[in-house]
Amino acid sequence: MYHSARSYIYQIIYITILLSVSMSAPAADPVNSQNNNTQNKKEISYSKKGADTCLKCHDEDNEYPVLPLFYTKHGERGDARTPMAGLQCETCHGRGGDHQKKTKKGEKKAPIRAFGSKAWTPPAEQNKVCMSCHNDHTRANWQGGIHEDAGVVCADCHTVHTRSDPMLQARTQTEKCVSCHLKQRAEFQRTSTHPVRFDKIRCSQCHNPHGTFNEKLVKTPNTNELCYTCHAEKRGPYLWAHAPVQEDCTICHSPHGSVYGSLLKKIPPLLCQSCHASGGHPSTAYNGSGLPGGTPNQFLLSKSCLNCHSRIHGSNHPSGVKLLR
Ligand code: HEC
Ligand code: HEC
Ligand code: HEC
Ligand code: HEC
Ligand code: HEC
Ligand code: HEC
Ligand code: HEC
Ligand code: HEC
Ligand code: HEC
Ligand code: HEC
Repeated sequence: MYHSARSYIYQIIYITILLSVSMSAPAADPVNSQNNNTQNKKEISYSKKGADTCLKCHDEDNEYPVLPLFYTKHGERGDARTPMAGLQCETCHGRGGDHQKKTKKGEKKAPIRAFGSKAWTPPAEQNKVCMSCHNDHTRANWQGGIHEDAGVVCADCHTVHTRSDPMLQARTQTEKCVSCHLKQRAEFQRTSTHPVRFDKIRCSQCHNPHGTFNEKLVKTPNTNELCYTCHAEKRGPYLWAHAPVQEDCTICHSPHGSVYGSLLKKIPPLLCQSCHASGGHPSTAYNGSGLPGGTPNQFLLSKSCLNCHSRIHGSNHPSGVKLLR
């Protein structure tokens, strides 16, 4: 059976750990100064046997699956940068000297640092643990970024006690993000969307959830740079550029989804008329007498202004100044 096979594997790992994992020289606690800040530091020590101590209780029979951590990068003892090469479980969970003691009936267990925004440990302390090793350029704007500000913690997005962190896979990432961002979940269900729900694009290809210089956690310093990374042909340069295209693609397009075609925010002619007056066209162009029904229609059916102004993003034709060709 799958389950017992797995328990068996865990057991082997567990035994291997018992035999071989006894403490390596304790490296410095990443958040020593703030370690278990509600406890009295003097009385609390690290467990003498590191992970072995913890695994006496938190083993494969425990309701919380702790052991898959050993299949992840954090569990690689051969890599000196990992928590398991240092103070092991306590690198992240802090001093467990009191917590690991057996309790008498009715006695409360001493607390130990826990993760997730529902955990008792304050968000700042939790994030400090993770940031002690992950404070690189990707997270340079974490501090004061919108997620940090809103009290979202690293562990709300990342799961460290699983073989594969769902945040790092396309499909499961989307599920995780939209579990909090319901409006965006709806936007990606519209008729015209970026193909996020088919796992062809991830939220993190456009956003850096750890914080950015741009607004709305957009990865690139300005939004057009983002769009050009995948729609390079829209960068130009054009002989005849269309001013709003150069300024910001999101003037006309919704980045997530739209009920109109081509992710447009409004349907032409309304889109175009939000900036352009309808005057100025040669009157013949507007004479709809030849059209079915005989009603004059300056937008000449479904593609509207684009029937004629087809080079809407810009033109490289010598006489494309009116974006006609
Ligand atoms: C003697 C058994 C025992 C040992 C040893 C032990 N724990 Fe626990 N641990 C428990 C029990 C029981 C709970 C659940 C009760 C509770 O939350 O107080 C728990 C809860 C936890 C929690 C959740 C705390 C929370 O507030 O949600 C974490 C994290 C944890 N243990 C980590 C560790 C680590 C790390 C070690 C090793 C330093 C360790 N434990 C050693 C029995 C043990
Ligand atoms: C003692 C240092 C240390 C601490 C503390 C630490 N990590 Fe890591 N973490 C690492 C190392 C080392 C890697 C592997 C990096 C690599 O391979 O380049 C890693 C990898 C990761 C990865 C990528 C995993 C993958 O499969 O690619 C994530 C996500 C991560 N850590 C999140 C966290 C979170 C969340 C916390 C806090 C709960 C945390 N880390 C705490 C050292 C640490
Ligand atoms: C809102 C969700 C979210 C939060 C909060 C979050 N992350 Fe991430 N993290 C992600 C996503 C998404 C990726 C994958 C990025 C990619 O695919 O380019 C990632 C990737 C990573 C990685 C691996 C790749 C890399 O950038 O090195 C590490 C390490 C990491 N995060 C650490 C952290 C730490 C530390 C914190 C807390 C300070 C944190 N994350 C908070 C969503 C989050
Ligand atoms: C990289 C940091 C890190 C390391 C190392 C680590 N943990 Fe955790 N632990 C976490 C985070 C973050 C959570 C929150 C849930 C998750 O991400 O899977 C957690 C959750 C837990 C829980 C469940 C707590 C609850 O709320 O019920 C227990 C128990 C636990 N860890 C024990 C251990 C033990 C035992 C070890 C050593 C074998 C260990 N942890 C090593 C970061 C770590
Ligand atoms: C635990 C819940 C949670 C998760 C998971 C989460 N977020 Fe957020 N996110 C928030 C909160 C809370 C805010 C603060 C502003 C708000 O309420 O919208 C926010 C803000 C944002 C903003 C900025 C909104 C603005 O108006 O400036 C973006 C962009 C964003 N998140 C993207 C993501 C992406 C991408 C992911 C997945 C990688 C993600 N979020 C995962 C809770 C979450
Ligand atoms: C093709 C790129 C792209 C993808 C993919 C994408 N976003 Fe966005 N998102 C943007 C841009 C650009 C903005 C800024 C829009 C603006 O300034 O009007 C934005 C804005 C946001 C905002 C701020 C509120 C709003 O609607 O303006 C949130 C929250 C958000 N995105 C979440 C997500 C989540 C969650 C995912 C994945 C399910 C995701 N985004 C996927 C480009 C993208
Ligand atoms: C990570 C790559 C990526 C980024 C970044 C990106 N796109 Fe896209 N875009 C795509 C893909 C893939 C498609 C779907 C193409 C297809 O279905 O043939 C698409 C389609 C579109 C479409 C056509 C939609 C339709 O319904 O026909 C528009 C419009 C569009 N993107 C605009 C933008 C804008 C504006 C930005 C910047 C905010 C942007 N894209 C950023 C990859 C990207
Ligand atoms: C002035 C409004 C406007 C602006 C600004 C704009 N677009 Fe468009 N875009 C349109 C219209 C209208 C269509 C539909 C064209 C059609 O149906 O023939 C379109 C279609 C698209 C398409 C799908 C069809 C194609 O041509 O590949 C992509 C991709 C696209 N735009 C990307 C972008 C990018 C990237 C930017 C910013 C550099 C941008 N757009 C700025 C109006 C605009
Ligand atoms: C956000 C405002 C805005 C929107 C929306 C917009 N435009 Fe423009 N458009 C401009 C500006 C500004 C110019 C440059 C005018 C100038 O140089 O005198 C321009 C130039 C043009 C030109 C060339 C005019 C000339 O005199 O050279 C045409 C044709 C045009 N737009 C058509 C359209 C069409 C068709 C749409 C709808 C798909 C549209 N525009 C949407 C702002 C906009
Ligand atoms: C039947 C084709 C056709 C349609 C449909 C059309 N245009 Fe034009 N448009 C033209 C032609 C041809 C010119 C160039 C006129 C000239 O050079 O004097 C032009 C010129 C323009 C100019 C430049 C104004 C100027 O004085 O030079 C703008 C702006 C413009 N059109 C916007 C629009 C908008 C917005 C729509 C939709 C509401 C639209 N056009 C629909 C053919 C069309």
